[in-house]
Amino acid sequence: MTPLSEPFARFAEIFARVNAELPRECFPDANAMSLATADAHGRPSNRIVLLKAFDDRGFVFYTNYDSRKGSELLVNPYCALCFHWPPLELQIRIEGRAERTSDSEADAYFASRARASQLGAWASIQSRPMEHAGDLERRLAEFEARFEGVSVPRPPNWSGFRVVPARIEFWRNRSSRLHDRTVYERDGDGWRVETLYP
Ligand SMILES: Cc1cc2nc3c(=O)[nH]c(=O)nc-3n(C[C@H](O)[C@H](O)[C@H](O)COP(=O)(O)O)c2cc1C
Repeated sequence: MTPLSEPFARFAEIFARVNAELPRECFPDANAMSLATADAHGRPSNRIVLLKAFDDRGFVFYTNYDSRKGSELLVNPYCALCFHWPPLELQIRIEGRAERTSDSEADAYFASRARASQLGAWASIQSRPMEHAGDLERRLAEFEARFEGVSVPRPPNWSGFRVVPARIEFWRNRSSRLHDRTVYERDGDGWRVETLYP
C-alpha cells in the first residue's frame, strides 16, 4: 500500500518547482486551477480559482458560499481540480469531495488579504445578476463607510473549501504523445497506484 503522504509530497515537490521556475511576470497565477462542480442534476460547470493552502488533508481555495460554485458544492460536494503548467509540460488532476474549512482557518486567511480585497468580498454578491451599472462601486463605497477605521471582518458567506482527494493523477508530457500518467486512487489508509495509457 502506498503511504497516505506520497501523492501530497509529490504535489509539493512539483508545486515548489513551479514556484521556483516559472517567472512571475510571465506566469503570475501559478497557483491557478480549474474547479469543476456539478449541480443537483449532474450538469457540470467549470471556472478558475486559486490554491491557497494544501497539506495531506487536501487542497484549499476560498470563495463566496452563495456563488454558483459555492451553492453547488454545498449540495453536491463531489468536484474536480485541474492544474496545467505549460512551460513545465505538467498537468495534475484531482477528484474528491469539498469540505468547508473551519471558521478559524478562513478567518486567518481573510485577515491576511489586502483591505481592498476584504472589502470586495463584502461588496460582491458573487454570481448574482447586477441590476444597474455602478451597483458594485456603490456597494463597495457602502462597505468602505461601514468599516471605516476598523478592521474588516470576514463576511459570513465567504470562506474556504478543502478538496479532499479520492484520486490524483500526475501527467507529464513525452514526445509523440507517449505521455506519462500515474494515478493514485484512495484505498483505505493509503493509495492504489496505477499507470494509465496516455
Ligand atoms: C486567475 C483567476 C483566479 C481566480 N481566483 C478565484 C478564487 O480564488 N476564488 C473565487 O471565488 N473566484 C476566483 N476567480 C473567479 C472565478 O473564476 C469565477 O469567475 C467566480 O468565482 C464566479 O464563479 P461561479 O459563478 O461559477 O461561482 C478567479 C479567476 C481567475 C481568472
